Amino acid sequence: MSKLIRNHDFLSNRGGKLFVENVSAEKLAAKFGTPVYAYSELRIRENARRVKSALAFTPEISRGLIRSELFYAVKANNNLSILSILRNENLGADAAGPAEIELAQRAGFPKNKILYSGVFHSDEELKFGLKSGVAVNVDSLSAAKRLLKFGKPPLFSMRVNPGITGGKIRGLIFAGSDAKFGESVANVLQGYRLAKKAGVKKLGLHMMTGSCILDENYFAAAAEKLLAIAGAIRKKIGIKFEFIDIGGGLGIPYRLNEKILDVEKAVKLTVKVFAAGVAKFDLGNPKLLLEPGRFLVGDAGVLLTRIQTIKPKTPRQARGKAFVGVDAGMQTLLRPALYGAWHEILFAGNLNAKAVKKVSIVGPICENTDQLARDRLLPKLAEGDLLAILDTGAYGFGMSSNYNTRARPAEVLVSGGKAEIIREREGLKEIIGRQRVPNRLKK
Ligand SMILES: Cc1ncc(COP(=O)(O)O)c(C=O)c1O
Repeated sequence: MSKLIRNHDFLSNRGGKLFVENVSAEKLAAKFGTPVYAYSELRIRENARRVKSALAFTPEISRGLIRSELFYAVKANNNLSILSILRNENLGADAAGPAEIELAQRAGFPKNKILYSGVFHSDEELKFGLKSGVAVNVDSLSAAKRLLKFGKPPLFSMRVNPGITGGKIRGLIFAGSDAKFGESVANVLQGYRLAKKAGVKKLGLHMMTGSCILDENYFAAAAEKLLAIAGAIRKKIGIKFEFIDIGGGLGIPYRLNEKILDVEKAVKLTVKVFAAGVAKFDLGNPKLLLEPGRFLVGDAGVLLTRIQTIKPKTPRQARGKAFVGVDAGMQTLLRPALYGAWHEILFAGNLNAKAVKKVSIVGPICENTDQLARDRLLPKLAEGDLLAILDTGAYGFGMSSNYNTRARPAEVLVSGGKAEIIREREGLKEIIGRQRVPNRLKK
């Protein structure tokens, strides 16, 4: 009998064993080693289709009153195979830097479906953006001036800080007075004046105000604010935008009992407000752009990790807690250490075992923030057991590092009963091979 795990159709409990699509977690771990990220191709496609059809079925888009396009935020997971899946689903790519532009091109995204949305750009990055012939979105007046001095992109866009955010985790708030992102309305206006003067023909307007937002009403409220800004710009300097990009931010529930975002409702409300704003401010026919990352790939990934060392609680000594040491750590999955993020953890070898004991799941890194879960109620575990850390498809591998001179993990794509390696685990060559020692130090 197979039992699905809430909100994760591609994960199932088959006689107590965890399956990712039709491959058991144990088989994946045995074949590819641990720690390993496993992604469900089915789930990634489902997520993309869900947002695409949510857009397509709104009254305004289905009747052709509003145009829209979905871009994938490459930073969420830059694996080329995942990019290829999303290109195949006809999405565009939102690239944060030159290497992400390069990756998007290698994955086959055409130039006119790549938006380069960096922040705090260097001159070299701006020149790379121009040379690659993609649309360039800058987040400062400084970058706008430098970009326009170097050349004319086919489409110039600016990221505004509209002063509104729906992010709940401090590190995921990207707008408002404490955020380093975007520009003031006055400076954005100045940027468009310069672009107009430089003869740029196509213009866009962009914001990205927060991540992992589960409130359906938020996206419409933020869009309303952005359209009012577009209206003010239009009134002052008479420009029309090719696109108005409301950013990403569609959230996923990281706790099994957390609210699930009703993406159809969020999109419907947003498109309605967008259409009303376009009419109210006489904005022409700008395309509505959305650039989600987390929603498309976040819940499609599972990090498999094996227990190496258990330190039971020793009440009469200093350690008043039980620690379960696994082979993944903050070098593999940074989110818990970075923002205290929560990820559900399953005992992949026996999903039916009762949770009996609070333990902390920790990694092998010499930092006490290297705790993937603190005081988590879990079944009785033993060294050698396999754990699955859920919802690690976004900002998992991408934030991994070589800290403590450790290898970044492997990545595997599961599709039905097939599991294929899509990034090999690093070896010594990747971890230490780029170091150079001056001859004088070799003596
Ligand atoms: C410019 C930009 N667009 C899109 C995203 C994707 O955000 P999310 O994963 O919340 O959808 C981000 C995330 O940081 C971003 O910085």
